[in-house]
Amino acid sequence: MENKDIYILAIESSCDETAAAVVKNGKEVLSNVISSQIELHTIYGGVVPEIASRKHIEKINQVIEQAMEEAGMRLEELDGIAVTYGPGLVGALLVGVSAAKALAFALNKPLIGVHHIEGHISANYIENGELKPPFLCLVVSGGHSHLVKVNDYGEYEIIGRTRDDAAGEAFDKVARAIGLGYPGGPKIDKISREGNPEAIHFPRAKVGESEYDFSFSGLKSSVLNYINSCQMKQEPVCQADIAASFQKAVIDVLTEHSLQAVREFKMSQFAIAGGVASNAHLRETLREGCKKLGVEFYHPSPVYCTDNAAMIGVAAYYEYCKGNFHGYDLNAVPNLKLGERI
Ligand code: KG4
Ligand code: ZN
Repeated sequence: MENKDIYILAIESSCDETAAAVVKNGKEVLSNVISSQIELHTIYGGVVPEIASRKHIEKINQVIEQAMEEAGMRLEELDGIAVTYGPGLVGALLVGVSAAKALAFALNKPLIGVHHIEGHISANYIENGELKPPFLCLVVSGGHSHLVKVNDYGEYEIIGRTRDDAAGEAFDKVARAIGLGYPGGPKIDKISREGNPEAIHFPRAKVGESEYDFSFSGLKSSVLNYINSCQMKQEPVCQADIAASFQKAVIDVLTEHSLQAVREFKMSQFAIAGGVASNAHLRETLREGCKKLGVEFYHPSPVYCTDNAAMIGVAAYYEYCKGNFHGYDLNAVPNLKLGERI
């Protein structure tokens, strides 16, 4: 097997993106097709699960066909079929899982179920050839905020997690409160550049037990209270200042926890992943922090930070090499734990 190139078709449908990609040897992305439903959900201010599932059904075959075409390959030439089987919206996950099972069965190829967060972490291998475990990874997305020790391929230790809202969720809720719309992260990222991050002091939450846990719901409430009090006093609300001050509060906490963990676990490499990892200010702050500690800093390009199937194909490659395949009884597991295989 050593000398043979491995081609994996990967499918991702855990939330509001229908995506398929072909990845060669766990690194080279031959195609990466993403059909986003963002516009559909915008009018509701967030993802509507029923609509997401229906749209995935409409798009899935088209997206897979396009991924194969762009890779210039025929289905028979593939070595395996990978799919996100959790965590995520159950109806949405089921669409991808069913498509992957049907393909694997019809083609008689190995089926590999992948954890969505493992995919996000693995996105870092695409453009950073030198990155290998062990390293520390901050995973910040719309549904998750985890500080993870990647001990080896497929071996994860969660050392910190959010107690309430995920970082991306906080971005989305605050953006909605100040009238920026959905999805909030990129909009806050952009408007913050025109605001003063010191204008308003929002709290940096400390949570008990694990020093690496996060909590963002208090910060979100504090932003809402601030807006209410301005409205009561009939004072103008400056969107850019609120956005910049809120963003700074989130980034301060993410950075402080991450760098503290880098020191405690004596890690020489640190990576970020997930939708929020495309935030320009977060990247800059972490880059500087790592530089001061003499630690290598890695991040995926924005297209590999937000949901995509290429990252699933990368994670699946390492399972393929270990011969870890799933049976045709693979099911969607909406609350799948990182490192758990069902
Ligand atoms: O990883 P992802 O695409 O989906 C999940 O697995 O949840 O992350 C989406 C999240 C959304 O909450 C979005 O607002 C946030 O990532 N996001 C950002 C940025 N781009 C996307 N947050 C802050 N700054 C950004 N530039
Ligand atoms: Zn994601």
